[in-house]
This record gives sequence, structure tokens and C-alpha cells, in this order.
Amino acid sequence: MFIKEAIPSYVKNSRGRRSIQIKLVTYEGRFSASAPSGKSTGKSEVACYNSRGIEYSMRMLKIFCKKLKDKNFIIKRIDDIKQLNVLMDKFEKRYGKFGGNVYFAIEAAFLKAASADTGRELWKFINDDINKGRKPKMPMPVGNCIGGGLHSKKIKNRRPDFQEFLLIPKEKTYARAVTLNLRAYEYARKLLKARSKNDESAWMTPKTNEEVLEIIRKVADKYKLRIGLDIAASAFYDKKYYEYKNKKLTRDKVDQADYIEQIVKKFKIFYVEDPMDENDFGGFTEVLNAVSKNKTKSLIVGDDLTTTNPRRVERAIKAKSINAMIIKVNQIGSILKVKKVVELCQKKNITMIFSHRSGETFDDTLADYCVGFGGQFMKSGIYGKERLIKIKRVIDIEKSLKNLQHCRSK
Ligand code: PGA
Ligand code: ZN
Repeated sequence: MFIKEAIPSYVKNSRGRRSIQIKLVTYEGRFSASAPSGKSTGKSEVACYNSRGIEYSMRMLKIFCKKLKDKNFIIKRIDDIKQLNVLMDKFEKRYGKFGGNVYFAIEAAFLKAASADTGRELWKFINDDINKGRKPKMPMPVGNCIGGGLHSKKIKNRRPDFQEFLLIPKEKTYARAVTLNLRAYEYARKLLKARSKNDESAWMTPKTNEEVLEIIRKVADKYKLRIGLDIAASAFYDKKYYEYKNKKLTRDKVDQADYIEQIVKKFKIFYVEDPMDENDFGGFTEVLNAVSKNKTKSLIVGDDLTTTNPRRVERAIKAKSINAMIIKVNQIGSILKVKKVVELCQKKNITMIFSHRSGETFDDTLADYCVGFGGQFMKSGIYGKERLIKIKRVIDIEKSLKNLQHCRSK
């Protein structure tokens, strides 16, 4: 793979903030990738940019990209990305850390170019490597329908304390699942009488957690969907207590775990992300233990807890804190570490949810990563241009697989 040119630039993300895009020009074509950014970030995530800010990262990148010009790389599988990492490491020693977002964009652009070089699409390039080319099972969508917490503005000075109220279909095809989520999203708007959307295009409301849970249960029942929550508990955890604002209430660690167990039972919640503080591995274990006894066999999902970091994932698995986890590539800023996390999940039967960030770009790499690495779910919102582009990419992959099957059976 011969790099004729590598061009970094700024793009705006869905929050109107600057993000980094990289375009590679090779003999196969032009390949670009841009990075998303989170708002309710885990403390153990890698920083998005150099500590001196995005502009410093951009300056570094411009110098680095000049060095990539006219270089040849042989990238036939994911591990071969080491050739790029060695160069980046050397460069970082002199200038400082690039940051996870720069890594996301540059590695994704490299993998896109490398897969084209080997005549495959990105998901297939990854799948051939990690899943030995077995036909992938399509993921199910995890769609953010109603929002609260850090992603939502207050209405009449109130908002739900939980960050995301999610809809999760169980359908034969991803395309049908997405259609159901869109219909349910419209129905939720009616029930809520919602007028505005938050950072991830989920409906905003002044209602309490319980009021929203009643509504989302009704929506899910009508369309036969499962429901999920991203509690994002660290956002309202203050040293020792969970400080609820709507309605005002303080829960200690034991109360919080009990409360989660109760609502999981009462509302038949299938998926609970970050129910406890991001460093409370033991608290997660208690919640997982409690809900394992239920019929629903709910997923207890680590996000801020695990931050796609192999060491934290190993710890969470050892402590039996989770049975599912969020994978966000820019959280760790290394595709090789993501690969390690995927291998751990596969080995230990941990369900994988590949996830967007609240500040998204028009990049659709998430879809290829999810299908290629074999994620059971893709969390990418229900609505909004930056979200729909990723959903459409999975639909296209699903269609191409069906056509392939059709041709084979002829
Ligand atoms: P973030 O939040 O992208 O703002 O970090 C998403 C999440 O917590 O799942
Ligand atoms: Zn989360």
C-alpha cells in the first residue's frame, strides 16, 4: 500500500465542535476517516488530543503526514498496523501524545486503504482476520430513544437523571430492526409530547426516571422491543453517594444496587449500562449477581468501567462485574488493543456492543468495525444524520451478504 499523500483536516462533529479527519491517497483511491468525541467520558479513557489541545495535535499531524508521503506499507491483517504504530511512537517521543482521536482517524483510514489494497471491504478484512472469515451474524441496534443526564438540556429546570433510555429490537434482519426502532421513536415522541432532541437525537423531557420508564415500557410493548438504560452513574456519583436531582434523593452504594435490581425487575429491563460508579467493580458484581437470578437474563454493561482498556476488561471479567461491554475505539485509541479486548470478550463470552459517541461525525467506520469484529449489538442512536449514516452502512453490508448468498444458491 503506497501512500501518495496523507492529508489531515478539521471537520465539524454533531455538536458543532472541531474534530480531526485524515484522508489517505493511494493507488486504490482516497480513504478518509474522522473521529467522534464523548461528553460523559470515563476517567480512565485516553485523552482525545494532546494536552495542549486539538490545534497542537493538528500541528503534529501535519508534520507526521508529510513523513508518510511516498512510504510503502504492507498491511494484510490487523496486526500489520504495528508498522504505523512504530512510526507514531517514535514521533510521540519527540512531540508528545497525539491523543486517542488522532489514533482513531489515522488507523481507520489506514485500515480502509489496506482493505481496498487487498480487494476487500473493511468489515471483511477484519472478519477474515479475527473470525477466520466465518459469515458474520448481523448485530442488533441499540437505539437511544429518550435522553437525560449530561447529554440533555433541562426543561423547566428538570431532566431525567439517567442518561439514555434505549430500545433494542430482536429481529431476523438488522434492516427490519431499524424500521421498528424508528416507528417506536415516533410513538415515544407522541407519548412524551416531546418537542426537542438532545446530543444524540433522543427526545428530551422534564420527566423523572420512573415516569420515562413507564413510557418506554409502553413503547417497547407496542413494538415488541427490549428496553435498555445507560445509567452513566458516575455522572451523579459524588464520593460516596449517588445524588439524584429529579426527584431529589441520595442513595448510598447498597441502595443504588438495590434500586437497580428493583427497576430491572419491575420494568423488565434487558440492558443496563454503567449502573454503578466507574471504579466500583464490586458494586457491578453485586448488580450482576442480583439480576442473574431473573428470567430476563439482563446484560450488565461496562462502559466508563471498562473504557475499552484490556487491563480494566480483564479486571471486570475476573471480578464477574459484567456480562457485556461497550467498545469505543477512541476510548483506548489503538485498534490492536481493541482486538485484544474483542479476543477477551470472545473467550469469556462477554457480549460486545460497538458504540458511537455523543459527538459524532459522518464517518461510518463504526459499522464495519462492529460487523467485522463480530459485535452482537451496535449502539448508534435512532435518528440524526451522523447516526443514520452508520445504520445505513450496516444495512448495506447485510444486503451484500444476502446477495452473495443468493448468488451462491443459484
Ligand atoms: P459519550 O457518552 O459519548 O458522551 O461518552 C455515551 C455513553 O456514555 O455511552
Ligand atoms: Zn455509556
